[in-house]
Amino acid sequence: MRYSLVEGNAAEISTPCLVTTLKSAKSIARQLGQSSILSRATEDFKDQLEQQICVHLEGSIRRLLIIGGAGDNLSPDQFRKVAQTTAAALTQLPIKQAVVSLDRTRVKGKQSDFKQMTLMRAISQAAYSYAKHKSKPAAPCQLTSVKLDVVAKNTTGPVTRYGNALDQGLQFAKDLGNEPPNVCDPNYLLRESRKLARNDKVKVSALSEKKMAELGMGAFLAVSQGSDKPGQMIVIQYQGGTKSDAPYALVGKGITFDTGGISLKPPPGMDEMKYDMCGAAAVLGATKATIEAKLPINLITIVAAAENMPSGGATRPGDIVTSAAGKTIEILNTDAEGRLVLCDALTHAQTFKPRVIIDVATLTGACIVALGSHASAVYANNDALADDLLSAGDHSGDKAWQMPLWDEYQSALRSNFADMANVGGREAGSVTAACFLSRFVSGTDWAHMDVAGSAFQGGMRKGSTGRPVPLLFEYLLRQSNA
Ligand code: BES
Ligand code: MN
Ligand code: ZN
Repeated sequence: MRYSLVEGNAAEISTPCLVTTLKSAKSIARQLGQSSILSRATEDFKDQLEQQICVHLEGSIRRLLIIGGAGDNLSPDQFRKVAQTTAAALTQLPIKQAVVSLDRTRVKGKQSDFKQMTLMRAISQAAYSYAKHKSKPAAPCQLTSVKLDVVAKNTTGPVTRYGNALDQGLQFAKDLGNEPPNVCDPNYLLRESRKLARNDKVKVSALSEKKMAELGMGAFLAVSQGSDKPGQMIVIQYQGGTKSDAPYALVGKGITFDTGGISLKPPPGMDEMKYDMCGAAAVLGATKATIEAKLPINLITIVAAAENMPSGGATRPGDIVTSAAGKTIEILNTDAEGRLVLCDALTHAQTFKPRVIIDVATLTGACIVALGSHASAVYANNDALADDLLSAGDHSGDKAWQMPLWDEYQSALRSNFADMANVGGREAGSVTAACFLSRFVSGTDWAHMDVAGSAFQGGMRKGSTGRPVPLLFEYLLRQSNA
């Protein structure tokens, strides 16, 4: 989708579809001398949220798409509904271009940029489809260009640059997630990452298994050793700021398929474990958006890419390995593999002396039990960082909720034979997983996001959601403007 701004009187615009409120639709129809068409068509229309009506006119505006309730004073959540109604209707019309004129709607506590970003995000989400492997794909959405009619163009800044950047980041993340696991393996993630280096501010490299062995990454290698596909520790460096600026670091769990290993998962729904690289997809999507938006920050993105398979060479429950940080781990359950690849990735991230590390992972089923799919879980060793992430999520409609990282939970990881076990007991599984990771970060502000419930949907609507790309991008955007 391409987003741009448009100026001038809405009634003078030429477009296949103009999206607006009932009140302004009336005024436009009056100016175009077509009031009677509009009043007859909207006779039974309920001007309420989630309602919409498309009215065909004669002349330069071919259709008016009227969004119910959009003329009222709205809360941010209500405006999100307006954006979703707009997006759902627009992406189903047989049109390539549309103009959205909803900037006069007042939203409590928010400015124009919130409205425009919310509209663009909703349209990008609704326009997305993944039909690469269908021999007869259903007709895709035809819309390719959306113009935003904003009241004060000079005050909105580069909002469409951000909307276009986020569109690309979301699409990248969703495509990576939806790709089947026989295509999307660790090497595929590396090849897709390398495409980001077409920009001259970006460098992409990777640690091979040999290099990881030299660095003592025994935790990562314990996961990838069961697979015929070699693991990759992918490193992307974006320099949008000055050389001396400490970078932000994003770390993603990139398990391209999680069978559980020798602690094999049960068959139902196992196909969904292709989504176990959605943390990686999200940090790659946020990185792509950051590059496209040309944010003036430095960013290091690390993807721990491996496949968790059972085989004659796979790790056994009871094996003890040494991580790159020198800590020994008794692997009691090979299905708790995410924390094993991430702990070595976190150790590597700290060598770049970042100002902040944020890791993103589909880490635990327990996170889904705790929060369902509405919120991503946030854990942090610094409450101000957690607040920043929650606030970015709130603003971008990509909600997150803070969970405790208290010392009381750490004892669950006790091992009789090594420095720690890789699993706690049955209780608080998402918390003890975060506790495990916390042991590998020291002296750096760090947050961990467990996105097991939010990053993809199962069942009939199975698919990648692209979350938490909107949250991460909003966070980085705010940091770059600070
Ligand atoms: N990738 C899974 C977590 C997961 C489950 C993500 C369902 C998305 C949907 C992770 O590697 C895993 O298997 N975790 C185990 C941990 C347990 C063995 C301590 C789990 O949640 O059961
Ligand atoms: Mn697992
Ligand atoms: Zn996993």
